[in-house]
Amino acid sequence: MSNRNFTSFPILTTERLTLRQLVINDQQEIFMLRSDGEVNKYLGRKIANSIDDASNFINKINAHIHKNDSLYWAITLSGNNVLIGTICLFSFSDENDKCEIGYELLTNFQGQGIMKEAVEKVIDYAFNIIGVQKIEAFFHKDNQRSIKLLKKCSFRDSTVLDNTAPDLICYQLTN
Ligand SMILES: CC(C)(COP(=O)(O)OP(=O)(O)OC[C@H]1O[C@@H](n2cnc3c(N)ncnc32)[C@H](O)[C@@H]1OP(=O)(O)O)[C@@H](O)C(=O)NCCC(=O)NCCS
Repeated sequence: MSNRNFTSFPILTTERLTLRQLVINDQQEIFMLRSDGEVNKYLGRKIANSIDDASNFINKINAHIHKNDSLYWAITLSGNNVLIGTICLFSFSDENDKCEIGYELLTNFQGQGIMKEAVEKVIDYAFNIIGVQKIEAFFHKDNQRSIKLLKKCSFRDSTVLDNTAPDLICYQLTN
């Protein structure tokens, strides 16, 4: 049984990063993330068309956090509050003691080991504070950067399939 009470939002820090809650002022960077062709290439989601789409998304995310359904962090470089990416834990299953992880980084900040640093911290939080026993990541079979990242973070190929999306594969990490 996991300990999911996100009333007091968990701010996480690493050597270079601060992971904080999304605020409405992040709308410009969220719009960039959700409209950039390269970032969205393998995500199969509806592209944001306007800043309003980004604002609505931020409000929706914070409503889910309020209900303890998911956690969604803005990734920032410590000392600079501007959002450069996001990382989230969602689809919690108390029955199976597991959740899913998702992440995205603005292209200018890729290739610097930033997401690896964020993923390792969030894994630690998921296992040791929330108490899940397994984390799953679903991604497009051609998303090589995501595969590389997950392997570096010790995720392994799993046999789990998403029957609604045949191009997705699943990697998992067990505590
Ligand atoms: C998936 C994604 C987050 C990976 O980003 P990334 O920057 O490649 O990931 P990492 O943080 O692991 O960085 C790795 C790179 O940083 C380099 N690096 C530089 N400095 C580093 C450091 N101090 N520590 C570690 N790596 C470092 C590594 O060599 C590596 O480069 P390479 O891939 O050219 O070998 C990014 O491609 C992305 O946002 N994609 C779009 C969204 C997406 O597909 N999300 C996945 C949904 S499932």
